[in-house]
Amino acid sequence: MLHQKEWRPVAAWSHNWDMNLVVAVCAGLDCGSAVSAKKSVEASWRPVWRINSGCLKSGSSLNYCLPYDENSDQSHEIICSDSVRLVQGTNRCSGRLEVKTNQSWSSVCEKDFDLQDAKVVCREIGCGPPSVHQGALYGEAEAPVGSREFLCEGSESALLNCSSRKSSGRNSCSPGQAVGLTCSDNIRLVGEASRCAGRLELLHQKEWRPVAVWLDYWDMNSVAAVCAKLDCGSAVSVRKSEEASWRPMWRIRSDCLQSGSALKNCLPDDGYNYQSHEIICSGLLVEPLIFLSSSTDGVSTGRKQGSELLIGSHFSIMCSIRPQYEGGSFQLIFSTSNYTQNQTLPAVNHSALFLFSAAGHAHQGTYRCVYHVYVFSYNFSSISQPLNLTVSVSASPTALIISLVVVLLGMLGSGLVLYFKARRNQKSGPENNHHDEGSRAEGSLEEETAV
Ligand SMILES: *[C@@H]1O[C@H](CO)[C@@H](O)[C@H](O)[C@H]1NC(C)=O
Ligand SMILES: *[C@@H]1O[C@H](CO)[C@@H](O)[C@H](O)[C@H]1NC(C)=O
Ligand SMILES: *[C@@H]1O[C@H](CO)[C@@H](O)[C@H](O)[C@H]1NC(C)=O
Ligand SMILES: *[C@@H]1O[C@H](CO)[C@@H](O)[C@H](O)[C@H]1NC(C)=O
Ligand SMILES: *[C@@H]1O[C@H](CO)[C@@H](O)[C@H](O)[C@H]1NC(C)=O
Repeated sequence: MLHQKEWRPVAAWSHNWDMNLVVAVCAGLDCGSAVSAKKSVEASWRPVWRINSGCLKSGSSLNYCLPYDENSDQSHEIICSDSVRLVQGTNRCSGRLEVKTNQSWSSVCEKDFDLQDAKVVCREIGCGPPSVHQGALYGEAEAPVGSREFLCEGSESALLNCSSRKSSGRNSCSPGQAVGLTCSDNIRLVGEASRCAGRLELLHQKEWRPVAVWLDYWDMNSVAAVCAKLDCGSAVSVRKSEEASWRPMWRIRSDCLQSGSALKNCLPDDGYNYQSHEIICSGLLVEPLIFLSSSTDGVSTGRKQGSELLIGSHFSIMCSIRPQYEGGSFQLIFSTSNYTQNQTLPAVNHSALFLFSAAGHAHQGTYRCVYHVYVFSYNFSSISQPLNLTVSVSASPTALIISLVVVLLGMLGSGLVLYFKARRNQKSGPENNHHDEGSRAEGSLEEETAV
């Protein structure tokens, strides 16, 4: 910062840098989106301008901050994305896309942009993968003037590194078709058999690390927010993870995790912590699968929906689940419009087989498998897709219906033939051979039936 004719590094009061500050700096420099910032510690103390970080948060320019003359061994390194930015979104990882070409910013037309391109942009600005990508979400004043169509492969590090070609014409892009983008939070749960349980990790500066919150204070609101962000249902518990050792973490303020707030606006601090925390969400289990196999099918085949059985055949229903946790049980729930019944078997090798003898009409209805397991001191369950079973007298009622329709069509056809022959006969006189006409009509009935 230049102040009193002197350029010096900037330090913030109480080292309280957050992403909003970085956003303000990148915007003030007409660089793109704020990507990240890190504290750099110099070997020696030197003069800095110390500012109140509040004077940047409000979106005002650095010029209005009155700096204090100080010495510090700390400063901040900031990375802005240079030539792409998202504007008018609710946080730095969402908004209308603008690209800087030839020293000016312009929107991009939807038709010149696809998911691969979106991946590159989200990565370039230090956010998670794209979650929404569509036009007209974030206000635009005029039709985008984007003149290039981007042809990213998805792995490039910057949008302007992607190959591109001249767009097929600027007139074909009307207002409301500028690309709007929402990138997700860069968090994950690791170390457990489910993506909805485990140690919370955050990707920052291209590095996944466990998350530590100030004062190690985790509350259920934060856990609920994490579960929701990961699409994992509701919060079940949070506990200290068993493994404990000093290792690098990203330290964040606990309010960064509160529901409604965007983790993307938080600037994690480099730190070490001894203990990490494990989060458990209700959507822990994957969905079980349900299969039907029957004696009449010869080989046992699993079919997911709308299965038919021949009356009297033996059949079985198998429930299984991708291995996540040992043990547990499967409950098979059978329901018709006026009746519900269930039976339970222990899960062996992550599956259970329910055997039935002689299928009858009473077996018609809807079957579902529910897997129950007790882990992390809680009961969890997850339910399969429904399997609708019908029991028929003939092998296939659909085949019956088709043949019935064919016969009816055939009869209709031959009826028409007879009708027109009869009319012609009336006109041409009584000397025609009625017996011949009759057999031809029958022949046509056989033909139709064969079809
Ligand atoms: C860049 O802008 C200058 C002046 O506005 C113009 O002459 C030039 O053609 C532009 N270049 C491109 C590639 O659009
Ligand atoms: C992207 O372009 C920059 C220069 O503009 C170059 O340094 C960098 O290596 C490129 N990266 C890729 C992945 O092409
Ligand atoms: C269910 O309803 C059907 C007729 O709708 C009836 O035939 C059947 O006996 C009923 N089953 C039970 C268990 O009540
Ligand atoms: C399962 O059956 C038992 C009795 O056999 C009953 O108490 C229970 O409510 C049933 N559960 C479901 C989900 O239908
Ligand atoms: C368990 O199932 C797997 C395949 O799903 C199979 O390879 C293995 O032999 C089974 N083990 C037992 C004890 O049935």
